[in-house]
Parts: sequence; C-alpha cells; structure tokens
Amino acid sequence: MYYNKKTVTDIDVKGKKVLCRCDFNVPQDKQTGAITDDKRIRAALPTLQYLLSQGAAVIACSHLGKPKGEVKPALTLAPVAERLQQLLGQDVIFASDSVGPDAQAKAAALQPGQILLLENLRFDKGEEKNDPAFAKALADLAGKDGVYVSDAFGTVHRAHASTAGVAEYLPAVSGYLIQKELEIIGGALAAPKRPLVAILGGSKVSSKIGVINNLLEIADTIIIGGGMAYTFSAAQGGKVGDSLLEADWMDYANDMVKKAEEKGVKLLLPVDTMIADAFAPDANAQVVATGEIPDGWQGLDIGPKTIELYTSAVANAGTVIWNGPMGVFEFPAFATGTKAVAEALSKTDAITIVGGGDSAAAVEQLGYADKMTHISTGGGASLEFMEGKALPGVVCLLDK
Ligand code: 3PG
Repeated sequence: MYYNKKTVTDIDVKGKKVLCRCDFNVPQDKQTGAITDDKRIRAALPTLQYLLSQGAAVIACSHLGKPKGEVKPALTLAPVAERLQQLLGQDVIFASDSVGPDAQAKAAALQPGQILLLENLRFDKGEEKNDPAFAKALADLAGKDGVYVSDAFGTVHRAHASTAGVAEYLPAVSGYLIQKELEIIGGALAAPKRPLVAILGGSKVSSKIGVINNLLEIADTIIIGGGMAYTFSAAQGGKVGDSLLEADWMDYANDMVKKAEEKGVKLLLPVDTMIADAFAPDANAQVVATGEIPDGWQGLDIGPKTIELYTSAVANAGTVIWNGPMGVFEFPAFATGTKAVAEALSKTDAITIVGGGDSAAAVEQLGYADKMTHISTGGGASLEFMEGKALPGVVCLLDK
C-alpha cells in the first residue's frame, strides 16, 4: 500500500483520551450562520465513530475560517457541535474555549465513549504560529496516556500547533480520512491506470505552477482551462483582450509548453473561448477562436470546440484528476465548460479524482458526486500533495 503511516487501528485507544484534529472548516450562510455543506463533518465520522466504539474519550478540535487569533463569535464551532451531534446520534459536549478553563474542566471529566468539541482553535494566536506552548496545552487535555489522531486532510498542508506541533507531545497516528485521501490520490500519482489525464483550471497560473510542473513528470495529458489559459494564450502571441492575465508568468507558460513537448506529454490548451463584454452574469457573449479576443471583451469560459476536445480526452482516460473550474461557473451563462467536464467525468470508466474547492463544489451542485471515484475534502492540501510537497500534518505522524 502507498500509505506508510500508523493509523488508528495500529494503536490502543481503549480507555484513553484521544485528541482528534478534524477539518470542520465548513461553508456557512453569511446571514444565518447555518452550515451550507456538511461534507467535511460527515467525512470525519468513520474515525470518530471508530474511536468512540473502541472506548476512547474523544476530544475533537478544528479551525473554522480565518479569525486570525481573535475571538470572532461568528466563527464559533457551536453550529458544528450541533450538526455533529445529529450525525453521530449522541451528545457532543462543547467547550467555549480551546485550551482554557472550560476545555480543561470538560476534558478532565470526559468519560470513555463521550465526545467533546473544543472551540475554534484559531481564536488563539498560538495555533497558526505553531506555538509549542499552545501545542503542549492541547496535548495536556488528553493527559499522560493521551493519543493524537490527525484526520484533518484539508489542513494537513499547514504546520500549525494542532496539525503538527502537538505530535511532539503525544503518540501521533492518522485517522481513516487522511489514510483514504492519501491512498487514493497518492496511488493515482504513483501507479496510475493510464492514460493519466490531469485537468487543471482556475484563475491563476501562479497558483498551479507547482502542480503543472510535477504533473509534467507523471501525466500523459494535461488539460488547461479557466482563467489561467489566457496567460498561456498571451504567451503564445494571442490577443486576450481584457481577460485575466498574469503577465509575469508568460515566460513560465512558454517553458511549460516546451517542457511538455520534450517529455512527450500532451498539453491541451483551449482552441476557442466564450467571451463576454463585461464580468457579469448577464453580459453579452460570443464564441471566438483562442488568441482572437478583441479589446473590451474577456474570456469567461472555454468554447464548444474546446469542450469537444477535452471531453474526448476524458472519455479515453484510465485515470482523470481534476482541479479547478473551466470558467466562471458561478454565472450560469459561463458554466457550460465546467458542466461538460463534470459530465464527462461522470460518464467515463476511468478512475476519477476531483480536488477539493471549486471543482468539488461544481460536481456536487450538478449532482454527479456519487459518480466520481473520489472527491477530496482538501483544496489547498490536495494541490500541495499533487505538487509533490511534503505535508507537515503527515510527516509528523508515526511511521508504520
Ligand atoms: C481549507 O478549507 O482548505 C482548509 O480547511 C484549510 O483552511 P486554510 O486555508 O484557512 O488554512
């Protein structure tokens, strides 16, 4: 197996207090605070249920949003405690702080089979700074026989106190979610069923640079869509009008095209583009060939010929990895390319892996979620993993 770290099944947790880092960073309605997608909470259940069934006393913890070391009531984890309680079908005790007196008292009183959720870790500056004192205070909640379980795949690329620092003070293993994510994504990269087709979208070349570079060593075909395609087009001398452009990255885009040729990797770029006369859902739109976008117009989606090209590459793939939308899919008039890719993935016999973030949201919204082999719970985390970077939240765990 690809994954070589100890997991919950490699350690005795019976009667012990287990600090379990989850990624409960869920989207919420801005007005009401209601959780709009509980996928990440549901993804944590197998590990939490296992620990509880083994007679562990579980101290769950997470961040939510970016409170930057300040207590921001709008970012309380209280609604997550409520949702977790419904999903687990048992009481979830909630602490109003993370390492303060309430957490300490509730952790000390916690019995085997019970679960406590701490308040948002990022209310404390020590969390993101990976402050050893904060990490130690978290570990102390689990006591001297305590165990640390890391199951926050979405946050595994962060070297924070609860994702990495705490492993200095407690025996550290992973939960089922991290194991599953790394086995599936890692397996697809290490020994893919070929051809391996990677579809990369999103707005910026700069944020996908590392992934493209690494995938050029692994993939058979790389498909580029989304805003970053205009930087490639401009680099090749095309007119991109008012489209998104990262002028500083044009040389890099050309290097990638060259490198793909040298390595025999098919790099597919859009051949046509759906352009708009404003960045607006009701803008006037028309299709033009790539590199022929007039001034005053901007590309907001791939065009029909490109859709044809990209979907046939998916149809013939052995494995498809998709990260990033093909256009501004939040505007229905410019969601066609992203929808077509999602639909192609839903129909292919290939192994299909969807990175977290926008492409995962698109697949869910379109109702294709159960047609995918795997939808990652990690946006930044899955990207960094595909870049071939070491993940601090995994490196710190005990080896098998
Ligand atoms: C995510 O949503 O990608 C993770 O929860 C990590 O959140 P962060 O980008 O705020 O660290």
